[in-house]
Formats: sequence, C-alpha cells, structure tokens
Amino acid sequence: MKRTRVALIGATGSIGTQTIEILCAAPDRFELVALAVGRESDASRALAAAHPSAHVVIGLEGGELSSRILDREPDLLVAAATGLVGIRATIDALDAGVAVAIANKEAVVAGGELVMGAARRAAARSGTNLLERLRPVDSEHSAIWQCLAGERPERVERLWLTASGGPFRTWDAPRIASARIDDALKHPTWKMGGKITVDSASLVNKGLEVIEAHRLFEMPMSRISILVHPQSLVHGAVSFTDGSMKAQIGAPDMRVPIGYALNYPQRSDHHVRAVNLADMRELTFEEPDLQRFPGLAVALAAGESGGAAPAVLIVADDVATSRFAAGVIPFGGIAALLRDASDRFAGRPAPESVEALRALSDEVRAFAEAWRPM
Ligand SMILES: NC(=O)c1ccc[n+]([C@@H]2O[C@H](COP(=O)([O-])OP(=O)(O)OC[C@H]3O[C@@H](n4cnc5c(N)ncnc54)[C@H](OP(=O)(O)O)[C@@H]3O)[C@@H](O)[C@H]2O)c1
Repeated sequence: MKRTRVALIGATGSIGTQTIEILCAAPDRFELVALAVGRESDASRALAAAHPSAHVVIGLEGGELSSRILDREPDLLVAAATGLVGIRATIDALDAGVAVAIANKEAVVAGGELVMGAARRAAARSGTNLLERLRPVDSEHSAIWQCLAGERPERVERLWLTASGGPFRTWDAPRIASARIDDALKHPTWKMGGKITVDSASLVNKGLEVIEAHRLFEMPMSRISILVHPQSLVHGAVSFTDGSMKAQIGAPDMRVPIGYALNYPQRSDHHVRAVNLADMRELTFEEPDLQRFPGLAVALAAGESGGAAPAVLIVADDVATSRFAAGVIPFGGIAALLRDASDRFAGRPAPESVEALRALSDEVRAFAEAWRPM
C-alpha cells in the first residue's frame, strides 16, 4: 500500500510533536516529507536529524512557505502553527489537491471564505466531502465530525462544544481581571502551547471554536452551543431532529483527534487509553458566564456579525495575549482590547484575498500594539 506523504507546519509545537509521534508509530502508513518550524532551535535540529529524508523549512511564511512544502508533493498537510503564518499554504494545498488536517483554527476563523471556498472547490474536484479535504483537528470539532459520520446534514439540529472552563472557572470577576500569566498557564485538564492556553483561560478560545464550527460544519452560529464541562471527557455532541443526541467521549489527549484526522476514514491503532465509564463519578455541564468572561461575548458577537470581524478578532487577540504574557496589560485588558478593536474595524467587509487579509492584519496589529487600558 502506498504510504501517505505528510507535510507538517509547526513541527516543534504541542500539536506538531504529537503528530510526529503518531507518524513514527506507523512508518508503514506515513512518510514525513516536509516539516516547517518558526526558527532554528535544538528542537528543530533534533527533528532534522531524526527525519533526514524530510525537507526542513525554517522561518518562512506566505507563498514561500507554501511552495517549499508543496514541492515535496505531499498527500496531506498538517497545519499546526499558531496565527496566520500557514494560511497561504493551507489554501494552496487545498487548491493543489492536498488534503489538510487543520489544527490552526486562526486560519479558518480569520480566512473565512478564503479557506472554506478552497475546501469546497477541492471537495467538488475530488468528488469527496468538504471535511475529507479540510479535516478538523481541534478536539471539539473532531468530536462533532465523528458524531456526524453517517448522518444527513438536514437532520442535524444543534452542535455542542464543551469547554473545561479553564483555571478561572470558579473565580469572581475582579480576581479574573487581575490574574497573572502564571495563573493563566495553569490549565486544569489540557497541556497545550502558550497562546491557546491563555485563550482557554479567557474563554476566547471557545468563541474562536464556535466560529470555526460555524464555518467547517456550515451551521448558523445560533445553532451552536457551548457547555462548560470541567471533566473534559465529553468533547462535543450533536443533537438530531428525532430527539437523539450523540456525544464523543475520550481522555483529554490530542493524539486521538490528530490520529483521527491523519487516518481518516480509518481509525488509528495508536492506543491511547480509553476512558473507563465506571470511573466517571460525575459529569457536569453548565452554560458559560459571559459576564465573568467578557472576551467570549466579544468573540461570539464577531462570529454573529461576520464580515471582517472574525479576522479582526484573531489579530487583536494575538496581540492582546502576547501583551498580557509580557506583563504589559492586565488579564482584564484582553477583552477590553478585543472590544475596542472590534468597534474600530469590524464593520468592514471580509477580506477578499490573503493580501487584503494581511493589510487588515497590519492595521489591526498597529492599533492593538498601541492600545492602552483606560
Ligand atoms: N496544543 C493543543 O493542544 C491544541 C489543541 C487544539 C488546537 N490547537 C491549535 O493548533 C495550533 C498550534 O497550537 P500549539 O499549541 O501546537 O502551538 P505551539 O506549541 O505554540 O507551536 C507553534 C508551532 O508553530 C511553529 N511556527 C511558528 N512560526 C512558524 C513559521 N513561520 N513556519 C512554520 N512553523 C512556525 C513553531 O515553531 P518554533 O518552535 O520554531 O517557533 C511551533 O512549532 C494553534 O492554532 C492552536 O490553536 C492546539
């Protein structure tokens, strides 16, 4: 059987290293042909030494990154950098007939129709469905994708995304507003990269995920709900028109959704330990509190308004989380910055090209970097 040629953007990151673990466990099925990282480091040198036949790409973005990756003629691209560095490569890969496993939610949220249009064209050309071409990796979206298997879209009533609630789930509003970076990095259930961990503490990540689900599953925002579920065992669910509901359950371990995307339509035999239902003393679910987590309210409003708003949100949040991590703005400043950037830029139409998205991103970035809390 021909091995799947895999290219990986973000190879040294949290998703990237877990992807490599899965690829290495099945050398008969996968061949790593290209790996891209942000900078030369001990980790990138170790990867290059361990995968001598893979082409190593360092510190490129846009068309340069995309052509270096696509030169290696992969069958599958795993997009696992943060931010917008891989958006051009994602679109170009889809246009070149390469399937994309997308961890990089920022590209889907900010890119909107640019990415989804490429996925639809790719699905139409190959006679497959959209999700086979643009495969969800985020655990909640993978859960929903698994629940949708074999179902008809018109019978789907609602999508449910769960959220752990993050480290500030039980904190009051003033304490959250003055939280420090060390507090924000103490995620109760998932071990992830720094940016997404801060986004999980503010719950902005969950807003991004609702927009991501709205795009990937072509479902109106009003039919996607969030449930705070601190045990992080139920990752997502779908309710159907006949009153039935399917949920996906598993340990909070990203190797499960990564493995599902890599092996689709098969399942991986990478043995992550299944959850023992008999050990589950308690599964709790509650609605998120938009008063204590105002960043989530801003993110959901951006998804509702569409146009440029989701892209503005992505860029403003990128700057806001970095400035918070550097100790320049307080935790409460993240939501305030997102609100002010949205008020200023979000009424614009959606960017019609990656170049227009870059130009918008430069403007929003300049505003967000100069922003001061009141
Ligand atoms: N971590 C999770 O469990 C998780 C779960 C769901 C979704 N996601 C999503 O997956 C994406 C990655 O998250 P993460 O937590 O894995 O991030 P991370 O640990 O911060 O890793 C980011 C990766 O991107 C690389 N990178 C930066 N600039 C690059 C460039 N120009 N070209 C190629 N690679 C570049 C970094 O390389 P250097 O190390 O060289 O800088 C690093 O390998 C994000 O969109 C996140 O929202 C993550």
